[in-house]
Amino acid sequence: MNRENLQSQVDALRWYHTIDLGDGVVTKGVDNTSERLARVGFPADLTGRSVLDLGAWDGFFSFEAERRHAARVVACDYYAWHGVGWGTGQGKAGFQLARTALGSRVEDVDLDILDLSAAKVGTFDVVLFLGILYHVPNPLLALERVAAVTSGQLILETVVDMVVIGRPAAAFYPGRELNDDPTNWWGPNHEAVRGMLLSVGFTRVDVITPQRGAIYRAARAVWHRLSGRTSLRQAFRQDRAVFHAFK
Ligand SMILES: C[S@@+](CC[C@H](N)C(=O)[O-])C[C@H]1O[C@@H](n2cnc3c(N)ncnc32)[C@H](O)[C@@H]1O
Repeated sequence: MNRENLQSQVDALRWYHTIDLGDGVVTKGVDNTSERLARVGFPADLTGRSVLDLGAWDGFFSFEAERRHAARVVACDYYAWHGVGWGTGQGKAGFQLARTALGSRVEDVDLDILDLSAAKVGTFDVVLFLGILYHVPNPLLALERVAAVTSGQLILETVVDMVVIGRPAAAFYPGRELNDDPTNWWGPNHEAVRGMLLSVGFTRVDVITPQRGAIYRAARAVWHRLSGRTSLRQAFRQDRAVFHAFK
């Protein structure tokens, strides 16, 4: 595929991830993917390891795992690839085009997280669960399924809420309460995420994003309010956090 041909195919699609496809062609993702990559504590070297990328969407993190020499990478999604209230109406065309352009060998599996099992997909050294926990109506059940396919390390990134409570708690978002998105259900706090991960069989859980104090939280809340994103009170309680959990 020459550069002009690739660019016109890329331009014809809507993208979630910002992916550098080489030759100066970069997808125009709505997500600030490079900023998130820097935050999740992605292993620098995945040589010889197997990686499962849950909720892979356009596949940025799958391709990144492959670039970091993973022996096998499986991208798994359902909603974004089938347009059930989620998708862009283009199926997995973005993922497939990026895979072709990158000459990637990433495999793909269409599966709802609640249908995951070792019998269906096997187990993986590293499992990515980025930006999904708050989308699942039953987070403990989803984490049970995720734990069943993780043999080594889970990297989980999520919205956290109720962060000032000091004990396990979660905010429930009926309707469109979180980011005007009806597919957002729960914002657990750090203690609740840690508790759920230990409950489903992980033996060690590290929070790798800083847990901010009240002054930082207040300043962040004012910034969010001024930029029209959310209410002061909500922004004070909410953040995003990254957890590394080990079997
Ligand atoms: C906010 S996007 C995050 C995409 C990517 N993981 C990232 O962090 O950039 C949420 C993704 O989770 C997927 N998702 C949500 N609920 C799911 C479920 N029950 N089973 C499979 N995928 C799900 C969506 O289809 C979507 O691709």
